[in-house]
Order: sequence, then C-alpha cells, then structure tokens
Amino acid sequence: DTNRSVRIVEVGPRDGLQNIPKAIPTAVKIELIERLRATGLREIEVTSAVSPKAIPQLADNQTLLSHSSIQALIGQPSTRMPVLVPNVRGLELAMKHGVKEVAVFVSATEGFSKANTNCTVEEGLRRAGEVAVLAIKSGVQVRGYVALYVCQYVLRVNCRYISCIFEDPFDGPTPEAAVLHVVRKQLEMGCYEVSLGDTLGAGTAADVKRLFTYLYDNGIPAERLAGHFHDTYGQAVSNAWMAFQLGVRAFDSSVGGLGGCPYAPGAKGNVATEDLVYLFERAGISTGVNLQKLAETGQWISQQLGKPNDSRVGAALARK
Ligand code: HMG
Ligand code: MG
Repeated sequence: DTNRSVRIVEVGPRDGLQNIPKAIPTAVKIELIERLRATGLREIEVTSAVSPKAIPQLADNQTLLSHSSIQALIGQPSTRMPVLVPNVRGLELAMKHGVKEVAVFVSATEGFSKANTNCTVEEGLRRAGEVAVLAIKSGVQVRGYVALYVCQYVLRVNCRYISCIFEDPFDGPTPEAAVLHVVRKQLEMGCYEVSLGDTLGAGTAADVKRLFTYLYDNGIPAERLAGHFHDTYGQAVSNAWMAFQLGVRAFDSSVGGLGGCPYAPGAKGNVATEDLVYLFERAGISTGVNLQKLAETGQWISQQLGKPNDSRVGAALARK
C-alpha cells in the first residue's frame, strides 16, 4: 500500500560527510555504511566519484568501493548503493567496482551550477545525459523499469538531483519553470526518479506545495519525484510531511542530520533520517528502519566526528 510506506534514501555517507574539512578515516565511513544497512535502510548513497579537488573528503572513493564489505553490499540484490557522479569519468570509476546505480546532479539555476560543477545548466544536462546513455548501455544489472520514456534499462540511472529548487545562493529565488525544465530533461534521459533538492534549506511547506503542484499541473507524476530537503531554517521535516501529503513517497535524509555542500555557503545538513523515521512511523507509515538502532548510529557517528547530534529525535532518544 503506497499510502502506508515510504522509501528513505540515506545520503549521510555522501552528502553528510562531503562538507567536513577534517579527513575521516575510510574505516569509519565503511563502518557507518554497515551500521546504516543494519538498521534496515536499503538505499544508501555511499560516496561520490567527483574531482578530489572539489570534494577532498570523498577522494577515498576507490578504496571505499573496493573494500570487501562494501563489495558484499553492492552484491546484495535487496540493497541499492548509488554513487554520485558528475561526468563519464566518475561513472567509469564507479563501474570499475561493480556499482549498479549512479546519481547525477544538475542545478536548476546558473549560479550554483557554475560554483558546483563549473558549467552552465545546459552543459550540466549534457554531461548528465552522456552519463545516462553510457550507463543504460552498460548492462550491469537488468531491471525492468517501465518508465515514461524508456521501457527498460539496465544500469539504473538515478538522476536523483536537481539543486536549488527554491533558492540559489548566488541567483536568489528559483523560477518554477527552471525546475520543470530540468526535471523533464532528466526524465527524458532515462532517470527513474528525480530528487528535488532544496540545497539551501530555505524553502517552507508553502513553497513545497506551490512547486510540486506546478510540476503535477505540467504533467510530472508524483511517483517520479523524491524530496531532498536541507534543514538550514528548520523546515525540513515539515517540508517532507507536506510532500508526503502531496503524494511523494521517496525522501533523502542523513543520519544525525549530517550534511551540507561546500559550494552552497551557509547551507546546513539534510533532514535527519531519525526525524523522518519518527515522523512517518508515528503516523503508521512504514519505513523499514529500526529507529533505536538508527539513533545509536547517529550518536556513534556524531561522536566519531566530534560534533553535536543534529537529529532532534536522535538526541532525545540518547537522553532516555
Ligand atoms: P573542472 O575543474 O571544471 O573540470 O571540474 P576538469 O575536467 O578540468 O576537472 C578538474 C580536475 O578533476 C582534473 O584533474 C580532472 O582530471 C579531475 P587535474 O587535471 O586538475 O589533476 N576530475 C575527476 N577526478 C575524479 N573523478 C572525476 C573527475 N572529473 C574530473 N569524476 C567537475 C568539473 C564537475 C569535475 C568538478 O566541478 C566537480 O567534481 N564537482 C563536484 C562538486 C560536488 O561534488 N558537489 C557536491 C555534490 S552536489 C550536492 O551536494 C547537491 C545535492 O546533495 C542535492 C542538493 O542538496 O541540492 C546532490
Ligand atoms: Mg544535498
């Protein structure tokens, strides 16, 4: 029953860690991924294969991906372990390790596109399209997705990200039509789902309602969208709940509320996975995640990183 369950995509090991300046040992990242999987999470974005100059923290992606326990998880049919890639080079680096899913990302706005990927929105779409074509051809794993534009594809292209859906740190408010354009292009290139990123974490429930309603009115179905809400202004849980009310059933989050992007100044972490699990489970909507184990993982990683636990639910459960 799609009204009684949601998919949670844990992005802590990627979005959660990418902005932390101090190098985190690869072993800690691997333990984090193992712990997250043990809570019941089935979709975990494990790392990115981007320029090590752009994101030094994740420059260990090849070591991480080749580790035996990560290889074992990649091999599990029940687990999805996407790697974020900006270009074909990144796709090739991911495929070397048998990765079955990649996530590409395009900004809806020019300012962030330039800062984050050093290119225009159209060039970003072209690069993403190149990744999608090659990925789909590469035949790592056959999945029968019946998509709107592509009947079946092999390597799942998780074109998960459109950034700056509400506001760009450089350009200001984002026009809805700019989001629609990039969503359409990503679906056309064969993405099974598009995750809408409030990169700055500035949007509110009213913004979510306006944007998602606009996308639906323009023919984009809720089943093809996911919500990726950052929590800078403390609105992320309420944004997720609004998106759920509007029919969205997939959400990205980070354990312990980790996260941020070095190219979006001032942006805070993702909505905490603990907070989403608490929100949905209390409403009788299944997430498949063991909240107690998840809260322990959030406490553990916060301690490892020497930072406060940014999940309100996690911190409350830890005090109990
Ligand atoms: P560039 O400098 O324009 O292009 O970077 P380049 O081709 O000249 O590459 C620069 C250097 O990186 C070169 O090395 C390349 O070889 C190397 P050098 O010759 O200088 O030694 N390189 C790579 N190395 C490893 N893996 C690769 C790769 N590609 C090139 N795949 C580029 C353009 C796109 C590469 C760069 O800007 C980049 O990597 N950007 C990624 C930034 C990033 O990861 N941002 C965070 C993720 S997005 C996000 O957080 C938002 C999201 O969460 C959703 C939301 O919240 O909205 C997804
Ligand atoms: Mg993000």
